[in-house]
Amino acid sequence: MRLACDGMDVVIADLHADRLDAVAREVRALGRHVLPLVVDVTDAADRERLFARTLETFGRLDALVNNAGIQRIAPPLDVTEEHWDVVMGVNAKATHVCCQLALRHMVTARCGRIVNVASIAGKMASTVHHPIYNASGVARPLAKWASGRERGIGGDHHGHPGIFLDR
Ligand SMILES: NC(=O)c1ccc[n+]([C@@H]2O[C@H](COP(=O)([O-])OP(=O)(O)OC[C@H]3O[C@@H](n4cnc5c(N)ncnc54)[C@H](O)[C@@H]3O)[C@@H](O)[C@H]2O)c1
Repeated sequence: MRLACDGMDVVIADLHADRLDAVAREVRALGRHVLPLVVDVTDAADRERLFARTLETFGRLDALVNNAGIQRIAPPLDVTEEHWDVVMGVNAKATHVCCQLALRHMVTARCGRIVNVASIAGKMASTVHHPIYNASGVARPLAKWASGRERGIGGDHHGHPGIFLDR
């Protein structure tokens, strides 16, 4: 909503169509164009479709916000491999791959912004029984750092969620 308030046309993606509908109505009320897409960011075909439809519809990609995030709360000894795979799949892997997909276009354009939303739990180990969430929070800034630095176009390695990559 903040991007739409600032005058940007937006693509909104989520697992749940009803959540998209509510946000799309608010964006349209601001007079901005919106493309709502039901997407599972852990699904490779869905991710490709998200970026393909974005470029088809708007012809450009100026910014990406990786906001989808989940957690599974369990005491350390009860954490299962399924917990690990699911949380890391959304919070870390999907974030990393979506950064790569966005950067394909941003590097060519020499312009773009990526915001990876992450929890402070990635910096300060939380004691409320979600060790994988803590680990996935660490991995998000790392995804940002790796994507930017490997291509020689900026990014920082201090773990600040936020904006990077510029002309
Ligand atoms: N709530 C907090 O206290 C808090 C604190 C710090 C950081 N965060 C981070 O902020 C972000 C948003 O959290 P929130 O509290 O608004 O959570 P939320 O559950 O309200 O929103 C997360 C959204 O991500 C979507 N989502 C989940 N898995 C998905 C998938 N596989 N594909 C597509 N969409 C998917 C959900 O449907 C949901 O709409 C997360 O990355 C979270 O880690 C939250």
